Amino acid sequence: MGYQEAYELLEKYGQTHLLKYYDELTEEQRRELLNQISELDFDLLKLLGNQQEEAEKGVITPLDDAVSIKEIEENRERYTQIGTDAIRQGKVGAILLAGGMGTRLGSDKPKGMYNIGETKDVYIFEMLINNLMDVVNATGAWVPLYIMTSEKNDLDTRQFFKDMDYFGYNPEFVDFFVQEMAPAATFDGKIFLEEKHRVATSPNGNGGWFISFEKAGLAAKAKANGVEYLNIFAVDNVCQRIADPCFVGAMIDGNYRSASKVVSKTAPEEKVGVLCLEDGKPSIVEYYELTEEMRYQKDDAGELAYRYGVILNYLFNMEDLEKNLENNMAVHIVKKKIQHVNEAGEVVKPETENGFKFETLVLDMVHMMDNCLAYEVVREKEFAPIKNKTGVDSVDSAKELLKLNGVTL
Ligand code: UTP
Repeated sequence: MGYQEAYELLEKYGQTHLLKYYDELTEEQRRELLNQISELDFDLLKLLGNQQEEAEKGVITPLDDAVSIKEIEENRERYTQIGTDAIRQGKVGAILLAGGMGTRLGSDKPKGMYNIGETKDVYIFEMLINNLMDVVNATGAWVPLYIMTSEKNDLDTRQFFKDMDYFGYNPEFVDFFVQEMAPAATFDGKIFLEEKHRVATSPNGNGGWFISFEKAGLAAKAKANGVEYLNIFAVDNVCQRIADPCFVGAMIDGNYRSASKVVSKTAPEEKVGVLCLEDGKPSIVEYYELTEEMRYQKDDAGELAYRYGVILNYLFNMEDLEKNLENNMAVHIVKKKIQHVNEAGEVVKPETENGFKFETLVLDMVHMMDNCLAYEVVREKEFAPIKNKTGVDSVDSAKELLKLNGVTL
């Protein structure tokens, strides 16, 4: 795209300020900027006027498809056998969502490269691979692992896996793919320049993974290799079980189209998204979307009716993902601190939120499925997310839990 074409495009959307410093740029910087402009999704900006619409939910009711810890224990052997068979037949793949910026942790490297070791090096990626190796060792089969990165961390992530010899995983069973980016804008809908020659963009949320997976040709590859189920998981939960045969078996045994690992809420007020039904279809509702009455509502057994908190570990059926590919995912508009070039041409890293980012969320995919099995796990064994350095959901709290589970750090 040349300057004139870019100018006309930007004029249409009221964004010509992105070319303000064009004259000062080197040839290469100009090319970079024009290239970025040609790839921007301006339609996202239209959403800024419709934020009210986004918040509207259907009728929420409690979920009735769940297996409790007790039921899982009673059926563990059977579920595990079914899941093990599926893994041995190559039907299960795992998707690591590692495209996030990890801003709360505040490391400039990919979050998975964070070292949580004390007496030796223990990287987050390493913990995840170790957990997956447990399944490989138990089943005798390699689980295809697909790692989603973003433009910002792709090279570092790939290089790190190479340098670390894939932590003992078989590289033939590892593929990387890069997620898309979305622009960041002021509260008035003006796209920010992050530097004079670069538009402020960030990964477009963890909900776009299937589209990027598909674009990279990996959905076709997985299908050709016989993969039927995909286990989606976050980079930051170092205790989680990946491609867990018992989880896979429970979903197959119950003929479910999707499944989610859940933990029971510790209290009605706990701020966690819960799995429930929305207009009769599975859905994840945020803490603040539950009414006061719903938060405290009890079921016939006297337990909280909305008690299943999600931990970002889902199983989806590939067929359903493909079927829903054309359905647009909801775009969430999130307030964030966004680095930008100010009026004086200086790069500013703001202390407070100064604009919007646009994100799709994997939890919205659950609502596209006909049903979803809530599979309850023991929080202390399987949920240690690392979002912050200290405090709640932090490096400190995760280390504590890992030690309790017998991991040497
Ligand atoms: P989070 O929202 O907790 O991760 O996403 P984040 O965005 O990296 O963290 P902060 O908010 O900046 O501190 C949960 C999971 O989704 C992935 C993350 O890498 C993490 O595994 N994710 C998030 C993506 O893969 N892409 C995204 O665009 C956003």
